[in-house]
Amino acid sequence: MMNIVVLVSGGGTNLQALIDAQKRGEIENGRISCVISSKPDAYALERAKENGIPTRVIPRKDYDDIHAYSKAVRDALIEEKADLIVYAGFMIILDSQVVEAFEGKMINVHPALIPSFCGKGFYGLHVHEEVLKSGVKLTGATVHFVTEDCDAGPIISQKAVPVSDDDTPQTLQRKVMEQCEWKILPQAVSLFCQGRIKIIGNKTQII
Ligand code: GAR
Repeated sequence: MMNIVVLVSGGGTNLQALIDAQKRGEIENGRISCVISSKPDAYALERAKENGIPTRVIPRKDYDDIHAYSKAVRDALIEEKADLIVYAGFMIILDSQVVEAFEGKMINVHPALIPSFCGKGFYGLHVHEEVLKSGVKLTGATVHFVTEDCDAGPIISQKAVPVSDDDTPQTLQRKVMEQCEWKILPQAVSLFCQGRIKIIGNKTQII
């Protein structure tokens, strides 16, 4: 059974999707063993506690720089014996110490179709505002491996939804979460725990 550690910073609806999938028996060969939050008041922590999942808070503001913060997160991940680390609305870009220690074991859900609308500065609602400004007719979500370059690691899965003329950033965010993120993230986690994701260069193959 793999230890899945989920990193969060906010509401935790993706964490909830993982918890619900686990309850339905859809996460094969893995269980959420710990939730780590960068914010003490993240609602995601309540979701974890309600479901008996151990939590840790590592506040970003307690650390002078990203190097010291990344070291603290890396040490916690080692202590938790993490086999898979899921960034589920985790809003901090950790440095190479973490990426090197857990290469090929960290995945992120991004609320757009990478390589569009991604990289530094593209997070949360802001992504959907940019999607609407651009006039694209399709958007969606991507689950990918975390590498040193922000949002540029091998893509595991993507799902698209149409953008409607009357969408607001809020309606689009909800649509992308409900129809894309909450579906493809638990699927990718289950595939990983079954050892079914093969990384070949900057691509992946599901075996
Ligand atoms: C989600 O839409 C997630 O894809 C996004 O933040 C939201 C978190 O919601 N992540 C990023 O933008 C990271 N670049 P949640 O806390 O309810 O899961």
